[in-house]
Amino acid sequence: MKNVLILGATSDMAQAIAKKYAAEGWSLTLAALEPDLLEPIAGDLRVRTETPVESLEFDATDFASHPAFYEGLAVKPDAVICVFGYMSDQMTARTEFDQVRRTIDINFTGAVSILNIVADDFEKRGQGAIAGISSVAGDRGRQSNYIYGCAKAGFTTYLSGLRNRLTRSGVHVMTVKPGFCRTKMTEHLDLPPALTAEPEQVANAIYKGLEKKRNVIYILWMWRWIMLIIRHIPEFIFKKMGM
Ligand SMILES: NC(=O)c1ccc[n+]([C@@H]2O[C@H](COP(=O)([O-])OP(=O)(O)OC[C@H]3O[C@@H](n4cnc5c(N)ncnc54)[C@H](OP(=O)(O)O)[C@@H]3O)[C@@H](O)[C@H]2O)c1
Repeated sequence: MKNVLILGATSDMAQAIAKKYAAEGWSLTLAALEPDLLEPIAGDLRVRTETPVESLEFDATDFASHPAFYEGLAVKPDAVICVFGYMSDQMTARTEFDQVRRTIDINFTGAVSILNIVADDFEKRGQGAIAGISSVAGDRGRQSNYIYGCAKAGFTTYLSGLRNRLTRSGVHVMTVKPGFCRTKMTEHLDLPPALTAEPEQVANAIYKGLEKKRNVIYILWMWRWIMLIIRHIPEFIFKKMGM
């Protein structure tokens, strides 16, 4: 039985991903910041799916703990999906540097810290798949969310470099750019329904994408074209747009 390690497992997307992998016959290692929130999720999956589920505490910003966390896994994973993230309020982040640091620590530094360790293990084993959930916000800096966006841009570039490094070792790395998704993170936002995915759509796309060794996936097809256009708007026009 193959094993998937899901980092940030209490997130709405991660819960859908866990259900999908369990349904496909994988065993699960779920890791999250709040063990009290994670345990009922893990328990529910054990009962509903009869798949082995291990649940562990994991803090993306406790960088020093990451080597021991990975070393201590009962089963070394075949796939790792890095889901955790944090979206600061842009206006608050403009004045409160703590929010900037938290956003970068979680979305970028924490992800790099744990995935560096995973990458070394997968490279030695000559196998494995990594998916990182980045964001279209990282495709171009916009005034409305460039703090979150720059952390995700760094993560996107990191995943691209990791893919380039690991491909010759038989390890696959996939970048996921969900566009809008209906989760806790966006529940306060008024999202356009046609551009908003459900967590289950993200889960299905990640499973299929890793099986097919896709490099970069957008969940709803429109987002690839929307971001292509946004990336190509000349800077002298883009800088005057209220985005
Ligand atoms: N929703 C969207 O529209 C959207 C779009 C593009 C990308 N994304 C990305 O998708 C991923 C999943 O987000 P979501 O939408 O499912 O939102 P979510 O439900 O708010 O999930 C975020 C998860 O990250 C966890 N987390 C926060 N800080 C952490 C830390 N220090 N260590 C470990 N885990 C930590 C949270 O745990 P706690 O709840 O315990 O704090 C939560 O489980 C994120 O990377 C997000 O940036 C979301």
